[in-house]
Parts: sequence; C-alpha cells; structure tokens
Amino acid sequence: MLEKASCCKVNLLLNILARRPDGYHELETVMHPVQVCDRLQFERGGAGLSLTCSDPSLPINSKNLVFRAAALFLKSAGASPAEGLAIHLQKNIPVAAGLGGGSGNAAATLLALNELFGHPLPPNRLMDLAASLGSDIPFFLQSRPALATGRGEIIEPLDFFPALRGTHLLLAHPGFGISTSWAYEQLDRFPAALNGVRGRARRLIRLLQTDLAAAAGEFYNSLQAPALHKYPLLELFQEFFRQNGALATLMSGSGSTTFALTRTRDEADDLLEKFKGEFGSSLWTAVVKTAPD
Ligand code: C5P
Repeated sequence: MLEKASCCKVNLLLNILARRPDGYHELETVMHPVQVCDRLQFERGGAGLSLTCSDPSLPINSKNLVFRAAALFLKSAGASPAEGLAIHLQKNIPVAAGLGGGSGNAAATLLALNELFGHPLPPNRLMDLAASLGSDIPFFLQSRPALATGRGEIIEPLDFFPALRGTHLLLAHPGFGISTSWAYEQLDRFPAALNGVRGRARRLIRLLQTDLAAAAGEFYNSLQAPALHKYPLLELFQEFFRQNGALATLMSGSGSTTFALTRTRDEADDLLEKFKGEFGSSLWTAVVKTAPD
C-alpha cells in the first residue's frame, strides 16, 4: 500500500491575456503551494479499478479526476486490463473552490502509480498525461511555487519567495463553489479582464524577492470580475480582510475560496477570529504558513 498527501494551491496572480481558438484562455499565473492536504491510498490487487471517497457527494467513477488519472496511467503504462487497483481518497480540501484540490489529486495519483508500478513512465510523459487531464495538473507534479503560462500547463518552477518568509494565509470558503468553465465563459462581459497585459507575473515575481508591501499590491485575478459580480459576499470578505489589516486579499483561481495574506501567524489567527465573528463559524477556513522557513 502506498499513501500520498495531495496538497492545494493559491494563485497570487492570474492574468488572462486572450481567448484562444481552441476555446481555452492564454494566461500567466503565479501559483503557490498551500499545505492543506487530502490523503490518497493506493493498493494493487483485487479486480479492476475501484475508487472510494470520504465525501459521498463526489463521484467515484470516470467523472472523478483520480479515476481518470489512474485509468490513463494504466493504459499509458501498458498495464494488463486485469490489473486490480484500489484507491481511497480522504478529502479535506473543499471542491470547486479554486484551490486545485481535484487537480492535485490527479497529479498525486500519476506520481503514486508511477512509483507503485516501478517507474514505467519518464517525467516528461507524466507531464503530458497531466496536461491532457487538466490545465492545473502539471503544477502539482512538483511542489514549489511556479510561473504557469499557456493555458496554465507550462510550468516554470521557482524558489520559495524570500518576501513571503514568515507570512501566513487565511483561506475562507463561502459555502458555495464556482464552476471554472462558468467563470471563464463570463469573461465576454468583462473585456478588460479578458485582455490583460502580459508582464504582470514577472513583475510580481521580481517584487516577491525583496518587497512584501509592493508585491502585495500586485496580487491580481482576472476571474474576480465575474465572480464578485455574481457573488457580492466575496467582495464583503475582501473588504473585511482589508479593513482588518490584511496585506493583500484575493480570490484564488476561479473561486470561490478567498484568501488574506498577513505578516505573522498571530495576525492570521486574530483575523480568523474576527472573520468568524462577522460571518459565522460554520464556513470552511484554514490558517497556514505561506512558505517553509
Ligand atoms: O483544463 P481544465 O479542464 O481544468 O479546464 C476547465 C475549464 O476551464 C475548461 O473547459 C475551460 O472552459 C476553462 N479554461 C479556460 N482557459 C484555461 C483553463 C481553463 O478557458 N486556461
């Protein structure tokens, strides 16, 4: 049996540049790993491919990215159709939340199965499989911050950012999810958000080396335009975080999770207490250190 943690991400910047002829969107995004993790267990044996999940609302068939990643791996690795494989997914990361939980699960599945089957596929082949399963998945084959371009599948891994050392993230989920394809489809109504100017990601990466306050001012997400228009609660979260001292606040990915960046753990814990006082304590929240020391 092999067990793997599958953690999530936030986008510190997600700048959409144009709609592409293939229907996807050209973008530049700065993705940062976040240590809120699901757990996956893999065991060879039994008959066929089976998936179980701690969350009964999630599909356990080919609609689940873990199932799809496993089926694609077995086919690509030339495993016998009789090969039995049982996978269990313990879900902690909220779904349709902009945190890349499902994408991380798919990447962890590819990595785990390659290990379990004796490394039949080289890294570049795993990258291709990951990109074919979803735009965010290649990022999760590695565990560092990254600049992602193309439709999000071209990854340039980066060192952890010096300016974020010691900082913390407060993540807050509003209790509803947002569909990624819905968010992208809405961009027609927000032309400024659809046609961003290239270069913001590199500028942010440069500032993240030395200047926390200036970098925080550069956090940006094109997909906020449609999301905040439809869900004013997310705007209220952001106003609240700003008024209560967050260095920056942003929706992650296509939402709905919204995060606040603070200088210290104490500030993040204080902000969480105040957030609960304002919005109730039933919403999913997490406080994490942004980067390792
Ligand atoms: O690649 P993935 O399957 O995760 O994308 C989900 C949906 O998000 C796509 O079907 C597409 O509608 C939208 N998308 C996009 N441009 C991107 C990434 C995703 O339009 N760069």
